[in-house]
Amino acid sequence: MQYPPIMKDYPYLLHGGDYNPEQWRHMKEEIWPRDMQLAKAAGINTLSVGIFSWAVLEPREGEYDFSFLDEIMDLLAANGMKAVLATPSGAKPQWMAEKYPEVLRVRADRTRELYGVRHNHCLTSPVYREKVRAINTALAQRYKAHPALGLWHISNEYGGECHCPLCQQRFHAWLEKRYGTIDNLNQSWWNTFWSHLYPSFDAVESPSPIGERDNPALALNWRRFTSDQFRDFYEWEIAPLKAITPEVPCTTNMMSTYEGIDYFNLGHALDVSSWDNYPGWTGDARDGRVLMDAAFNHDLMRGAGGQKPFMMMESSPSAVNWQPINRLRQPGVLMLQSMQAIAHGSDSVQYFQFRKGRGGAEKYHGAVVDHVGTNETRIYREVSEVGSQLSALKALTGSAPESRIALIYDWENRWALENAAFGHKQHQRYEDTVRSHYRALRGLAYDVNIIDQTCALDGYSVVIGPMTYLLRPGFAERVQAFVLGGGVYVGTYVSGWVDEDDKCFLGGWPGPLKDVFGLWDEETDALDETQHNRFSWCGKTYQVNDYAALVHARGAEVLAAYDEKFYRGYPALTRNAYGKGLAYYLAARTGEEFLRDFYAALLAKQGLAPLIRDLPAGVDCTSRTGDQGRFLFVLNGNPSPVTVNMPAGVLPETGTPVSGLTELSPWQALVIRTEGE
Ligand code: GAL
Ligand code: ZN
Repeated sequence: MQYPPIMKDYPYLLHGGDYNPEQWRHMKEEIWPRDMQLAKAAGINTLSVGIFSWAVLEPREGEYDFSFLDEIMDLLAANGMKAVLATPSGAKPQWMAEKYPEVLRVRADRTRELYGVRHNHCLTSPVYREKVRAINTALAQRYKAHPALGLWHISNEYGGECHCPLCQQRFHAWLEKRYGTIDNLNQSWWNTFWSHLYPSFDAVESPSPIGERDNPALALNWRRFTSDQFRDFYEWEIAPLKAITPEVPCTTNMMSTYEGIDYFNLGHALDVSSWDNYPGWTGDARDGRVLMDAAFNHDLMRGAGGQKPFMMMESSPSAVNWQPINRLRQPGVLMLQSMQAIAHGSDSVQYFQFRKGRGGAEKYHGAVVDHVGTNETRIYREVSEVGSQLSALKALTGSAPESRIALIYDWENRWALENAAFGHKQHQRYEDTVRSHYRALRGLAYDVNIIDQTCALDGYSVVIGPMTYLLRPGFAERVQAFVLGGGVYVGTYVSGWVDEDDKCFLGGWPGPLKDVFGLWDEETDALDETQHNRFSWCGKTYQVNDYAALVHARGAEVLAAYDEKFYRGYPALTRNAYGKGLAYYLAARTGEEFLRDFYAALLAKQGLAPLIRDLPAGVDCTSRTGDQGRFLFVLNGNPSPVTVNMPAGVLPETGTPVSGLTELSPWQALVIRTEGE
């Protein structure tokens, strides 16, 4: 699939990152031209500016001073670079907090914060919204025709929540819109329990450690509301930009599985998905696992943007400053990290940060340009190598990974599971579970699309929905239609327990999915780390951990049954023929070995071929396809060499042929253009 470049008429892989020249404006004659030179020489074509510039851009209320930005935008244009221009709402000036305390957030315990840090404005405050609208409008007016303007970067890493009186009011209005009447809300939330009937919407308080903290339906809806607040605020921020610069795409930088925002929902409002990637590289044998976790994050963020090419908006060129141990990057890891983003569909490699500040909380955070201020550092050299590689791979721009396999990760389901009191109360491990299915698939060298329960299932051969505890409206119907039409669906234990209001389905689990699976899931046992069960499948025995459901086949074929305890003989794995398709039900949590064996057999049976056979552990393999051909990436996350059996292709940089057994050095990223297709 071929998409247009992210920035209009700029068909390059983007390379750059966060740049704060305003911190250097007292030394601008010396620093700014030097920065341009260093950036260009490292193959940087894009710098993100203005992210935290509000206090400089509006030093006093209503008094704008765009002089630094004017100069920087001109410098970028003169040097052939594009600006990812930010709206400054990620951090507010002190005068605003002092004059309008309503812009300061209130915590769940109902204390109002003092001025300080960042990412902590009230999203409801009419004052904050007005100030944001005014400065966004002024920015768009000023730079609408500027040749450097390439993309709008809205705010920075939206997150958190506010419990102030204004937000409570907005929550009430949101609830009223959703439930219509308070009786309907009380009924939907089962509020007769503990006598918690609300007389009116105004009586509802957001969850609090000093108040209501045990109502799962309230918690779920508060999550929905706060997530919607961000989408609403984003739409508020872009309204003037869309009016004044309709051609310039907008995005905001997301944070993979950050709990507070349903990124699939926010994704609908973005022109391009973007996210900040900070893998915890260890420099040792654990990096293979780190690589696979980063792979999941990239695919999730691509999914949130509808599977189009996305942007890696931030990554660290070297050690960060906030991990428990901030290790230096091993030589080669920066290239690996950068190529992995491209491999999963990013059209950019952006860093935090271009130049290290002299002071402030992030002065020791990795940067392209260190305090020494020259090009003579190892990191600068490695960044320059990434720059050359990105220009050699220009043909990839706009191509995308394609997959017939979809894996479901769903925020609403996650929120509901987090508050569900059963089994492993604090350890439902939903995200871990989805990641373990993902690792099994990636480990077998299949591309995977990550979707949520609201996404269309058409076009996939296999859809996998681990622990779909909460079924969102229309999802069960889509699964039914998918399987009836010939699709293969894989579900697991703890599926189909509650509806969108967190009310249990009556008539047995997995609720409206019972027919598709051809079974009834009666009860679920929780096991601690010392307790296990077992089942055998295709001549091998697998261990059961954490969860084991006791299921009755009602038409489904039993492929494996438990071996032990009182649930010996109950089905552990079933398959149901439904319409033209098949639905598998995995009744227990297993280790990854089973998932791998199971998916290897299932995908082969579906006629889906892996990208490479016998991929070694800790190696990530992906592909991108577009008008310029098909590209295969093989990324070695191991500190040791691996041998990979490559299909025939050529190195895009040189045209050198590659095929058959090929050795990859530690942390090497290999890209080939493959023949055929
Ligand atoms: C990101 C943030 C950046 C910077 C970076 C440090 O989460 O957006 O502004 O703080 O972390 O790793
Ligand atoms: Zn508020």
